Amino acid sequence: MKHTLSVPGIAYGGDYNPEQWPEEVWVEDMRLMREAGVNLVSVGIFSWALLEPSEGRFDFSRMDRILDLLHENGIAADLATPTAAPPAWFFRAHPEALPVDESGRTLSYGSRQTFCPSSPAYRTAALRITRALAERYAGHPALAMWHVHNEYGCHNAACYCDTSAVAFRRWLRTRYADDLDRLNDAWGTTFWSQWYYDWDEILPPRATGADPNPAHRLDWRRFCSDELLALFTAERDVLRRAAPDVPATTNFMVNFSVDALDYWRWAPELDIVSNDHYLRSTDPEPEIDVALCGDLVRSLAGGPWLLMEHSTGAVNWQPVNRAKGPGEMRRNALAHVAHGADGIAFFQWRAAKAGAEQWHSAMLPHAGTDSRIWRDVVRLGADLRALAEVRGSTSPARVAVVWDWNARWALELPCQPSRELRFADLVRRWYEPLWRAGVAVDFIRPDTPDLDRYRLVLAPSLYLVDDTAAAGLAEFVERGGTLAVGFHSGAVDENCHVRLGGYPGAFREVLGVHGDEPFPLLPGDSVGLAGQVPPDATAGLWTEHIRLAGAESVARYADGVLAGVPAITRHSYGSGTAWYLATQPDPATLAAVLERMRQEAGVRPEREVPPGIEVVRRCGTDADYLFLIDHAGQGAEIPADGVELLTGKPVTGSVSVPEGGVAVVREPVTGFRIKK
Ligand code: GLA
Repeated sequence: MKHTLSVPGIAYGGDYNPEQWPEEVWVEDMRLMREAGVNLVSVGIFSWALLEPSEGRFDFSRMDRILDLLHENGIAADLATPTAAPPAWFFRAHPEALPVDESGRTLSYGSRQTFCPSSPAYRTAALRITRALAERYAGHPALAMWHVHNEYGCHNAACYCDTSAVAFRRWLRTRYADDLDRLNDAWGTTFWSQWYYDWDEILPPRATGADPNPAHRLDWRRFCSDELLALFTAERDVLRRAAPDVPATTNFMVNFSVDALDYWRWAPELDIVSNDHYLRSTDPEPEIDVALCGDLVRSLAGGPWLLMEHSTGAVNWQPVNRAKGPGEMRRNALAHVAHGADGIAFFQWRAAKAGAEQWHSAMLPHAGTDSRIWRDVVRLGADLRALAEVRGSTSPARVAVVWDWNARWALELPCQPSRELRFADLVRRWYEPLWRAGVAVDFIRPDTPDLDRYRLVLAPSLYLVDDTAAAGLAEFVERGGTLAVGFHSGAVDENCHVRLGGYPGAFREVLGVHGDEPFPLLPGDSVGLAGQVPPDATAGLWTEHIRLAGAESVARYADGVLAGVPAITRHSYGSGTAWYLATQPDPATLAAVLERMRQEAGVRPEREVPPGIEVVRRCGTDADYLFLIDHAGQGAEIPADGVELLTGKPVTGSVSVPEGGVAVVREPVTGFRIKK
């Protein structure tokens, strides 16, 4: 974190929308927030229509009372700029600011994020309300942090209107140094007569009958992410000028698959990185997603971060919204802390009576305080107070997983050998066995310069990679590191041009293999694997025809059209080792292969734990904090020495993790530290 939050210990709270309730309710809110130990709430996120009843006329009376009340009750405010939901009057005056979808359909106001990110009128209006708020509240004693906008791009990551087209062309002129030939070359526009003679001929990738141009689509994704980022930095700069010491954040959504933003570009612009995380009802092991996303946000932040939203129970936006089982909310929240969160917040404080989110869970449910959720909320507040000293500690890792939004966007374009490849699923597949084994993981960008702090670097899916990143990864192996690369990686450059001469393109030499044809499998199909893999090993999703060019075969296909062809290879390169997984092994086989790599690279788990126990270590200056979370409901006895912070009891020899519960042991410093 570049800024420190002024709230002590682990921050605790949620989105607070008092404007939806009569003022008598606010008094009860304060009493109950104190009872639960809430010390930070996000206010004003969707208050634009009430704060600015008509253009340039402000009414801050309600917000004055809310902030004063919070301050009187010792609760800090994470004050939002309300720019995610422009009021109806704005769209009546500026109908051109409404977003247009791929098919040319103009969307209506009456919900939220119903604006075009490139609209000059929107930008002017957003900065006007931001400036007014900043000037009024910069010195307010309740103000601890600015919450800029809300989940940028959640509903309007891309707008295809004419204004966006102009902005896209401007962005392209910068990217291609005003040289249209460079753009034509990068986009390969000799294909299908797509050559552009004039910048004005270029459009957003609107709906077409046949497949779009992949490079055009990819640049569009980059543009959309940058366009929203420009809105963020514009607001942030207004806030910084008014209150230079107040940190600004905006809530990321790192597990959001549609229209993702390139958060590697965003994170350095935030004073404090924060994230929202929601479980998917259909995920059989959502705790793995909690951990993966926590590690990803910690990596984006380069240290501790804030969980800005999660849910006490069910959400309301999935086809069926699963409620959380006994203890699940506590396990989720404490797992976020284990993975680096220094603050835990929910959407939202009080369950809404009206509006689109009336069936979303909250800290204070419709049923009131006589409810399981409320009791759990009060208990969690006490837990977080007990963990105050954990704040600021972090989790150094010896294993890094490459995560890249450009590679993700490119992989998921519609013109692939298989449309079944999903970047986040491929990464999760590799992350799971590491999580089960209790191995700490960082996520890195592909061009990370200081790779030598890692022993093992995994690139489960790096379809697109530029020359610099590919060279950096190869040099890491040359110097003695272990690298593992997943299938269909290194295939294209930053413009989505295929790297000629054989697959996996950019990684051919370091991996010591040569591929000449992908053989993707149909959904549900699988092939057998034989060699140094468990008996009955199988693989699915993808296979390819490769031959060894220096590497050894660890496993080959046992049947099917590629019977006998290498499927998993290992290559000694320089002083290191490079593995290629040309297929997707079944989970047990993948776990075995990753374990072998890990052992050869000398990477140990944080602690040996039985199945179902998640183990994570946060390292502080004076102590280590060992988090043990029981997802299997069996309980466990784990070797440890120190003090269990949630109960305050000393631990000698071993600690009991209660069934479905959590233990956090303060131990003497043992985990390795990254030398700065
Ligand atoms: C998002 C938003 C919140 C709320 C929640 C509901 O995260 O930021 O305003 O809509 O979803 O899950």
